[in-house]
Amino acid sequence: MNSEGVALVTGAAGGIGAAVARRLAEDGFAVACLDLDGDGAAKRAADLDGARGFTCDVADEDSVAGAVAAVRESLGEVTVLVNAAGYFARHDVPELSVREWQHFMNVNAMGPFLMARAVLPAMVAAGAGSIVNVVSTAGVRGGRQRAAYCASKGALLQLTRSLSVDHGPQGVRVNAVCPGLIDTPMADWIRHDATAMAEFDASLPAGRIGTPQEVADVVSFLVGPSAGYMHGATVMVDGGISA
Ligand SMILES: NC(=O)c1ccc[n+]([C@@H]2O[C@H](COP(=O)([O-])OP(=O)(O)OC[C@H]3O[C@@H](n4cnc5c(N)ncnc54)[C@H](O)[C@@H]3O)[C@@H](O)[C@H]2O)c1
Repeated sequence: MNSEGVALVTGAAGGIGAAVARRLAEDGFAVACLDLDGDGAAKRAADLDGARGFTCDVADEDSVAGAVAAVRESLGEVTVLVNAAGYFARHDVPELSVREWQHFMNVNAMGPFLMARAVLPAMVAAGAGSIVNVVSTAGVRGGRQRAAYCASKGALLQLTRSLSVDHGPQGVRVNAVCPGLIDTPMADWIRHDATAMAEFDASLPAGRIGTPQEVADVVSFLVGPSAGYMHGATVMVDGGISA
């Protein structure tokens, strides 16, 4: 039980993060569930064997340092990091403030950098570790009313690739999953609109929105030994929308 190591999952109160936390707990990891919503993270952790919840703002350097220290103290060194915390809101650039732009960048790109920086020294010292960044199709293509979100996810994809180049030789694999539209609160802008959903369903090979479990299953594969030759990969989990 919990013999695989310690998996730290950010955004664990949210749809994809919670599914990843559950899947990695089933895989045998002791899971640290982190989220800005500390109560939500604690609730998710309470349902999982050997998991613990922690409050963490991934966009705040001190909060990340404090949360990672608390994880280390209660569960041990982090062997797997999954950056699933994220921020999305539709916007038009002419009306977007610098503050809002920075919020996209801080949560979606700087957060994963801060988390990786906090856990990499121990992974490098151990000569083993795995990081998966939850990017988005928005990291590889443009989209309507999401320029800042796309820019932040593009930055995260490039961070993923460069971290894999730097730290792969030290035993740390770093990969990206790019979900398409997934059935979580982040998709509220469309998922309750029957007409828009029907149009969306007709536009992609899978013919439907994805589930958080379908993303979690790919994350589980990427952190596991079956993906041992995968470094810096971009894995689309998008129902074929980008095909
Ligand atoms: N749902 C989709 O359609 C979709 C598509 C592509 C990519 N993604 C990405 O998947 C990831 C998970 O999204 P989701 O669909 O589960 O959304 P969600 O809204 O259900 O969950 C996001 C979680 O991130 C947390 N969070 C936000 N800001 C944070 C911060 N500063 N510090 C710590 N936690 C913070 C929220 O509290 C929330 O629990 C995100 O990175 C998102 O960009 C989602």
